[in-house]
Parts: sequence; structure tokens; C-alpha cells
Amino acid sequence: MSVNGTASTNGSGSKASANVQWGGRFAGGPSAIMQEINASIGFDKAMWKQDIAGSRAHAEMLVKSGIIDGESGTAIAAGLEQIATEIEEGRFEFSPLLEDIHMNIEARLSDRIGEAGKRLHTARSRNDQVATDFRLWVRDAIDGVDAQIEALIRSLATRALEYADAIMPGFTHLQTAQPVTFGHHLLAYVEMLSRDRGRLADARKRLNECPLGSAALAGTSFPIDRRMTASLLGFDRPTANSLDAVSDRDFALEYLSALAIMAMHLSRFAEEVVIWCSSPFSFVRLSDAFTTGSSIMPQKRNPDAAELARAKTGRVTGALVGLLTVMKGLPLAYAKDMQEDKEPVFEATEAMALTLAACDGMVRDLTANTNRMRELAGSGFSTATDLADWLVRVLKVPFRTAHHVTGRLVAMAEERGVDLAQLSLQDMQSVEAGITADIFSVLTVDASVASRTSEGGTAPSNVRAQAEKWLKATEA
Ligand code: ARG
Repeated sequence: MSVNGTASTNGSGSKASANVQWGGRFAGGPSAIMQEINASIGFDKAMWKQDIAGSRAHAEMLVKSGIIDGESGTAIAAGLEQIATEIEEGRFEFSPLLEDIHMNIEARLSDRIGEAGKRLHTARSRNDQVATDFRLWVRDAIDGVDAQIEALIRSLATRALEYADAIMPGFTHLQTAQPVTFGHHLLAYVEMLSRDRGRLADARKRLNECPLGSAALAGTSFPIDRRMTASLLGFDRPTANSLDAVSDRDFALEYLSALAIMAMHLSRFAEEVVIWCSSPFSFVRLSDAFTTGSSIMPQKRNPDAAELARAKTGRVTGALVGLLTVMKGLPLAYAKDMQEDKEPVFEATEAMALTLAACDGMVRDLTANTNRMRELAGSGFSTATDLADWLVRVLKVPFRTAHHVTGRLVAMAEERGVDLAQLSLQDMQSVEAGITADIFSVLTVDASVASRTSEGGTAPSNVRAQAEKWLKATEA
């Protein structure tokens, strides 16, 4: 059999010869179905860069520690470089017979440089190798996602500044509650996303220990220098327990947990975009760039990007639950079950990247219908709390009593089919004699939002300051 793992078939065409990397004690090869269930090359080739980086660091350390000779080390480094080029240029033939990315690259190395290549796997195992590669991959993914979140935060803050004075109805229970500003609403998502960044940064910190040198599960008798490989690969330190190091996938789970929470946040944003774009609301318009038409109803502009962003949550949460289920109950140390760790992480990463990009696109694209928002902001007696607050502030009425008085005024206005501001002073005084004309100054939506200057409140002055703070924090 050739070193790159080409199958030599028997009569039935279903049997391969033994794996060249570990076939010493095997007379025959795996059945076709065994090969199919066993091979991970179809997806773990995504980690080729990390695998080559890990091997380069390992070889350098083996030389420095006197475990292999310098000449072999040089040949390995050059060989790995060439393999990287082959893969980059699409010339590398990935073989399922060699199971995974680790054996594909190692076999190709021996193919190219002979004896020296066969020395690379000294003092390591695929178990610490895959744990290292995967940590490196997730670390890169965290950095990529983080940059995208930062960009989205910037876009939200930019629009928030633009709409710092745009008054809209604020809702609780999706019922008109109190007027807020659109800028304030957008900045709420900035806060969520910044916590998402925090969770990712936190996961990254705990992830950043190097499993390489844990070998199969017990460590190695070779005088390796784990600090050296850890630092060459940008890890803070080597992992402390070899059994834990090869069986731990917390880093992937923490990453997925952070993504799942973020996907949930983005699904809420997407849902609001869907609601805002609906014709009964008409708060926001997305351009042709972020909507689709209907094949039958010519008037439709469907917010498909928002709907799909809302739906991607399913994949991301599914990935988290899937991997938690794979890991549940696994005895120490490595078990092949753990090969099922990568696809959910890859899939969630792809879904998240697309969702973040779509949300960023929509945030930049949307136009708020500020007249419509303002009109609805004043409906539904949205300044009733302002009225009650005036009674407390000016007449020194206890809040609970003020609430009651206001309730009676709302009932009166409702009965007459008018807004609170349309009641006459006389009407007001029939419920609470102490009321003066000054009360009308707090019943406008502008007065309402302008008065909410408490820390974290919706006043335009607050919103401007917060938006500027975020723009500064995300400056390139
Ligand atoms: N392809 C394997 C995985 O992704 C690599 C580790 C295999 N280790 C082993 N002892 N068979 O988990």
C-alpha cells in the first residue's frame, strides 16, 4: 500500500489494507463501513493550519531537548512548510484511509522527507495533538467572532447617536409602556453584545493552556519541554494534568455557551426588526438589499435576513446541547466519541459569523420612520407615569395615591376617547383639586424622555453620551 493511504482492494472492493500509521499489528484493513464511521478527515481538515503549527512547535522542541537531531528537525520544518503550500493550493490529497488531519499530514511528511518524518510523532499522541489543534482552532474562532461583535457594536452605536432624539414607544408585555428613544433601544443591544464579548474573553483565558506533551493520557518518559511548546503556540502555560488535558472539551463547550447566549440576543434583535418592519408597526424600513419579495403578493417586502438570523439560534443552541450530550458520562481519558466535538463547533461558528454579518448589515441599512414612531409613542397613555410623578413631585402626594389618581384620569380620558393631554384642567381638578396647568408640561413625549436623566435612563443626553462612549471604546 502506498504511504498516502490509497486503498488496495480485495475481490469485493470493500476492504483496505492496514493503516500505514498504525498497521503493525493488523493483518487486514477496516471494512468500508468502519472506514466511513471512523474517518474525520472530511471535516477536521479545517484544522490543517493548527495541526501544522502544532507539529512545527513540537519538532522544534524535540530538537531543543535533544530528543531528535537538528537535521531531522530542519527537514520536518521544511516538509511541513511544503505541505502547507500544497494544502493552500488545493494540491493535497486528503485520504479517508488515513482517518484524520493528523495522520494525513504526518503520512505525507514521511512521504516527502522519509525517516525524519517518522520521528515527528515521538513523545506525542493524536490525543494531545487533537486537543491542541482544536484549542488553537477555537481560539482563532473566538478572535474572529469577537472582531465581528465589535463591528456590530460600532454600527449600533453609530445609529444610536443618529437616533438619540428619535422618540418611540417603549414596551413591556409588548404593550405601550413609556416613551423611550430609538437610540436607547439600540444601545440596549450594545450592552448585551458587550457581555457576549466578555464571556468569550473569559472562555479564551481558560482555554489558553497547552495540552501538547500530555501524550496519549499519561505524559511521556521523554525529557520534553512543555513550556517551550506552550509558548511557541501562544498559550499561557501547559495544562497541569495529562488525563484531564486529553479528555477536556470545556473550552469548546464554553465557546458554544457564549455563542448560544449571543445567538439568543441576536434572535431578539431580529424579532424586533421583523415586528418593526411589519406594516401595522412601520417603525423601520429595510432597503431592497435586506428584504425579499413574494412570488405571489406584489406588495410584500419580507425581512428574510432578520427571520433567518432569528432562526440560526436553533443551530447554535443545538450545537451546545449536542456536544454536552456527547461529553456526558464519558470515562477518562480520550474516547473516540470526542471526535464528534468538531462539527457542532464548526457549524455554530459558521452560523454565528453569518448571523452577525446579517445583523450588522441590517443595522447599517435600516431607516427609522421617526414620525410614525413618535405618533405611536404618545398613544396608549404612555405619559401616565409622568403625570403620577408630577403629583408626587409637586403636590407631595404619596406615589401609591398618585397612581390611583392617575388611573382615574386615564379612565376618564379613555371613556372620552382622548389623550391625557386633551383633558381640560377642570377635568383634572375634578379628580384631584390641587392640579395646576403646570401638569400639561410633563404630558408630552418629549418632556417625558428628556426627564429620564437617571443613570442608564432614556434621556437623549444620556443616549448621546453612551453612544459616544461606545464609539470611542470600539475605535479602530
Ligand atoms: N480524529 C481523532 C479525533 O478527532 C483524533 C484523535 C484520535 N485518537 C485516537 N486515539 N484514535 O478525536
